[in-house]
Amino acid sequence: MTRSLLVEVRASPHQYHVLIESGLLASVGDVVKKQLGGLHCAVISDTNVAPLFGDRVKRSLTAAGFQPELITIPAGEKSKTLEQSGAICDQMIAAGLDRQSFVIGLGGGVIGDISGFVAAIYHRGIPHVQIPTTLLAMVDSSIGGKTGVNTSAGKNLIGAIHPPALVIDDVDVLKTLPRREFNQGFAEIIKHAIIADAEMFAALKDVDLKNLAPLIRRNIEIKSKIVAKDEHDRTGERALLNFGHTVGHAIERAGDYKKFLHGEAISLGIVAACDVSVKKAGLPRDQRNAIVDLLRHFDLPTHLPSDFPREQIFDPLQCDKKFESGEIRFVVTSTIGSAHLSSDVTLDDIREAIGAL
Ligand SMILES: NC(=O)c1ccc[n+]([C@@H]2O[C@H](COP(=O)([O-])OP(=O)(O)OC[C@H]3O[C@@H](n4cnc5c(N)ncnc54)[C@H](O)[C@@H]3O)[C@@H](O)[C@H]2O)c1
Ligand SMILES: [Zn+2]
Repeated sequence: MTRSLLVEVRASPHQYHVLIESGLLASVGDVVKKQLGGLHCAVISDTNVAPLFGDRVKRSLTAAGFQPELITIPAGEKSKTLEQSGAICDQMIAAGLDRQSFVIGLGGGVIGDISGFVAAIYHRGIPHVQIPTTLLAMVDSSIGGKTGVNTSAGKNLIGAIHPPALVIDDVDVLKTLPRREFNQGFAEIIKHAIIADAEMFAALKDVDLKNLAPLIRRNIEIKSKIVAKDEHDRTGERALLNFGHTVGHAIERAGDYKKFLHGEAISLGIVAACDVSVKKAGLPRDQRNAIVDLLRHFDLPTHLPSDFPREQIFDPLQCDKKFESGEIRFVVTSTIGSAHLSSDVTLDDIREAIGAL
């Protein structure tokens, strides 16, 4: 068994622990008990994850003296809505959860985001425990406290910053993750390497897929360090995590959230951001090529299909929130391992980079 890894996330005034270990699901109850009181808790999961791990988590919580209520919602991004949050709250009320209760999110980023949002609003905020079950959720969405839901006008428009009380990463759960879902996690890992860790970038090609805990821990450290400087996304520090996301989000939207998984769209967005960085931030071309090679190594897309409607990517960018008052602040890298916001990037640069994809 892998040794247990512990990361302490300090995002003043919030501080929480992330436990990383194989087999942790069986001891969720004991782990949570050390941290939280209360009797009732809601375990929120989806229709793919609940049949795989719901019972194990429930049994462990019951054995530790808790009264868990398993709430299962349909798998997929479509469930991340206000309506679904309301329905979950109704079930929690019916199950007798009160201000002393807590919420466990058992699933990928969709479950992490909606369960965190429910925890943030239920009785004006009760503790949230994240049990991420996708690689993307372990290295990215479970860290940083952003919770929320989508509306017809866009993704994540309604939400709250509600940092988790505890994050429990059982790396064994990744064994059942479909290949594409697994690979998309590497888009965010490669993003972290580009913006903050040249050493990790160099080591990624040879990463031991059978022992992912150290890699997950490193990524949590990178994200939490950035979040700690700017939890509420106000100083520009947290914006660095959006490297590749301006174009990536636009590609996701243009593909109607069906054509590409988030990480796949981000892979394409990273290629575009690298091309902009070569032109405007002095990123050496061989570094740009090494990034593209690494994305391909994890079977991530680096080219758009020839029939993809490129104009549908570019058009909405002109009213993107990051393009406030006509001034574009685009995340660029001058060398692998660091990133900064640039105001030298024009919409034409971005149009050109999308055209080259
Ligand atoms: N809060 C944040 O800071 C943040 C950051 C990045 C992404 N996100 C959000 O995360 C979401 C994407 O997360 P995701 O990629 O994890 O998507 P997801 O939660 O939809 O999970 C992907 C798929 O894998 C299935 N699944 C999950 N774990 C499994 C397992 N162990 N075995 C088998 N199947 C499993 C799910 O049922 C789903 O079908 C988006 O909604 C995005 O907005 C949030
Ligand atoms: Zn992302």
